[in-house]
Amino acid sequence: MRQFIKKITHPFLKLGLQLYYFKPKKYCYEGICVKVHPDVFPPHLTLSTKILLDFIKPLQLTNKSFLELGCGSGIISILAAKKQANVISTDINTTALSFLKEAAQKNQVALSIIESDLFENLNGYTFDYIIINPPYYPKKPKNTKEKAWFCGENFEYFEQLFKQINTKVTYQNAYMILSEDCEIDKIKDIALKNKITLETVLEKKVLSEKNYIFKFL
Ligand SMILES: C[S@@+](CC[C@H](N)C(=O)[O-])C[C@H]1O[C@@H](n2cnc3c(N)ncnc32)[C@H](O)[C@@H]1O
Repeated sequence: MRQFIKKITHPFLKLGLQLYYFKPKKYCYEGICVKVHPDVFPPHLTLSTKILLDFIKPLQLTNKSFLELGCGSGIISILAAKKQANVISTDINTTALSFLKEAAQKNQVALSIIESDLFENLNGYTFDYIIINPPYYPKKPKNTKEKAWFCGENFEYFEQLFKQINTKVTYQNAYMILSEDCEIDKIKDIALKNKITLETVLEKKVLSEKNYIFKFL
């Protein structure tokens, strides 16, 4: 049954997205609103962004350096900035970054917005917090929009993520969200190969799907 659900989940979501999400749509959390372009990851129909927002909300972030790696709409970045963090928001999706620039102004926060493939343009940076909501379906993305969902047939995104986080930046706390709908053991193995253990710090079941936030140790 679980296998069946896994198989239908993604095409179903894809069709839902096409029908629901053909022009920029507003998404709000606790008074913060962003406009999300159809080529950008939609927080409306997925659970991960909201779970991360709830996770970040109680953190003490004043004067902390905070990276949202792969920021999409950037609403997590804006929340962190409202909590007085010094925020860097990165993505490879330039549409996401230009929409975020506007959203930051509208929400009256200052963000450093940097186009970067993973940590490529962040060499030598130090962060108190790194937050990652990664693409995790093992398929080759056909375009930038699909990079929000697909991590490459052979999990290339994760191969590079764990390699680069060890070599390009230093950090205190790195957190990543994953769903039971993805190959968590495979991703944990890639992390371990790079001497990183993924420790579960939060487990949350929403609409019968379990989501986990992992801390990098
Ligand atoms: C699942 S979405 C998460 C978006 C946002 N952080 C959120 O929680 O709503 C993944 C994001 O990672 C970005 N991404 C994918 N591959 C990337 C890479 N190699 N470097 C930087 N960003 C990447 C995608 O463009 C997308 O915006």
